[in-house]
Amino acid sequence: MRRGAGNPRLGRVSEHDFLSANAALAATEVLDVAAMQLLFKVECSGEDFYSELADRVGNDEAAVLLRRNGREEVGHARRIQRAIGIKLGRPFEPTGELLERFDIPLPATVGPDLFPIIIEAEVQGDAGYQRWADAEPDPEVARLLRLNGREETIHADRAREALALLQAGQPSDQPS
Ligand SMILES: [Fe+2]
Ligand SMILES: [Fe+2]
Repeated sequence: MRRGAGNPRLGRVSEHDFLSANAALAATEVLDVAAMQLLFKVECSGEDFYSELADRVGNDEAAVLLRRNGREEVGHARRIQRAIGIKLGRPFEPTGELLERFDIPLPATVGPDLFPIIIEAEVQGDAGYQRWADAEPDPEVARLLRLNGREETIHADRAREALALLQAGQPSDQPS
């Protein structure tokens, strides 16, 4: 298929930003090749999201956990790249706008408030992957989708751990 060609409900890759792409994918029931291409870009951008988050939390231990999530998002993109190749019947090499990452809209500092949203997004990320896998006729593609999904739940767990570290390190009322 032509790169950038759209799935009418999903829109073109070029029409999206990080948040709209995540929202469009969350509403996608069947993961076709166009949706997989957008997902590839979202997963790559997930590394930037976690890395920028890690830079802003002001806690080294939490940052290590967040960067680990980020590295695995790139692994998810690689699995999606393989899945696209299986669907197309030939190796798929992303080019152009698929390799460009989305800008990540984060404030200069990030406190604990954002974490429940991230944790929920990761939990929903797993559920979405399992739904796509259920609807996927190719067993190898389904397997790759389920592997990604399981790791999104691990990401939710790490984000919970990071949140606990931030809360433990927050200035408190205790006398110094
Ligand atoms: Fe992911
Ligand atoms: Fe994740």
